[in-house]
Amino acid sequence: MTIMPLTKRGISTSRLVLGCMPFGGGWNRNPVTNEDVLKAEQAIDAALSIGISMFDHANIYTMGKAEMTFGTILKRRPDLRERIVIQSKCGIRLGEGAVPTRFDFSKTHILEAVDGILQRLGVEYLDILLLHRPDPLMEPDEVAAAFGILKAVGKVRYFGVSNMSAGQMRFLQRALPDQIAVNQLEMSLAHLDWLDQGIHVNQTAGTAVNFAEGLLEYCQMAHIQVQAWGPLAQGRFSGRAVTDEPDNIQQTAELVKQLATTKETTPEAIVLGWLMRHPALIQPVIGTMNVDRILACRDAERQAQAMTREEWYTLYVRARGKNMP
Ligand SMILES: NC(=O)c1ccc[n+]([C@@H]2O[C@H](COP(=O)([O-])OP(=O)(O)OC[C@H]3O[C@@H](n4cnc5c(N)ncnc54)[C@H](OP(=O)(O)O)[C@@H]3O)[C@@H](O)[C@H]2O)c1
Repeated sequence: MTIMPLTKRGISTSRLVLGCMPFGGGWNRNPVTNEDVLKAEQAIDAALSIGISMFDHANIYTMGKAEMTFGTILKRRPDLRERIVIQSKCGIRLGEGAVPTRFDFSKTHILEAVDGILQRLGVEYLDILLLHRPDPLMEPDEVAAAFGILKAVGKVRYFGVSNMSAGQMRFLQRALPDQIAVNQLEMSLAHLDWLDQGIHVNQTAGTAVNFAEGLLEYCQMAHIQVQAWGPLAQGRFSGRAVTDEPDNIQQTAELVKQLATTKETTPEAIVLGWLMRHPALIQPVIGTMNVDRILACRDAERQAQAMTREEWYTLYVRARGKNMP
C-alpha cells in the first residue's frame, strides 16, 4: 500500500481535502447568515460521509468569514475537532475590495494571523499552517522564529507552504528545525505546466511552461505532501458548460464523460483520479460546496488505482491539445 507523505509525518488524513474558500458567503463585510452556516455544514457532512477528514482554509477566505463559519459549526459540534485535520494559511494582506495588496511573512504578521485564525475557528491549535504565496521579502530566520513560537506554545503542529518553487522551499528550509510538510499548488487537467515542465527539458516548446523546474521531484524526495488546488478545474470536465472554451478543453470534457460512463463512475472521480494516479501522491483540495458534487468525488481514489498508463496519457494528451514531444 502506498503511504502518503503526510501520513509518513504522523498526520493521519484522507486522500482528498475539502477546500473551504467559498464558506461564509461572499468576499465582503456582510454578516454570515444562518443559510451560509447551513450550506457549509451540509458540505462538511457530505465530505465526512465519503471519508474526507481534512479541511483547507486561509485567513483571507471570504475575508475571514470562511473560518468564522467553520468555527460556528465546530462550536455546535465540538466532537468534530479531534476527528478532523484543519489546515489554514497566512501571509497575504488584503486591501480594499478584497484585493491582495502585499504578501507578508514577517514574524509579527504570522503570529497575529494565527491568533486570528484560532479565534475565528474557535480552536486551540491548527494541525497545519501554510504560507500562502511567496513573499519576496521573506527572511527565513524570521519565519523560523515565528514557527518556533507557534510550535512551542502548541498553536500549530506542522508547517507548510503554497505556490512555492523548490528553490524557495530549500531557502526557507535551511532555517527551519522541522521539515516543510506541504506545498499546495494549482494542478488539474486544465492547468498542466507541472507536467509539461518535465517533458520539455531542453526544448524550445518548454519556454512557454510556467512551473518551477524540479519542484515535483524535490517534493517527492523530501517527502513533502503535494496538494492540488483547483483540481476540478472549476467543473470544466464535470458538467460546467464549456462551449466557449478552447477545443482541447471541450474534447477533454467529452473524453472524461466517456471514461466515466465506461468505468461506471463520475466525471469528478476520473478528473481527480487522474491527478491522484501521479506517483507524487497528490492530495486534491476540492473547492465545491455542492453536496452532490462532493459525493461525486467518492470514487476518486479507486479510479486512481484502476487508471492505466494508457488512459492517463490519453487524458494528458487530450488536455494538452497536442501530441507528446
Ligand atoms: N493555495 C492557493 O493559492 C489556493 C488558491 C485557490 C484555492 N485554494 C484552495 O483550493 C480549493 C479548491 O480550489 P477551487 O475552488 O479553485 O477548485 P475546484 O475544486 O477546481 O473548483 C471548485 C469551484 O468550481 C465550481 N464547480 C465545480 N464543479 C462544477 C460544475 N460541474 N458546474 C459548475 N461549477 C462547478 C464549484 O462551484 P460549486 O460550489 O457550485 O460546486 C466551485 O466554485 C479552495 O477551496 C481553497 O481551499 C488554494
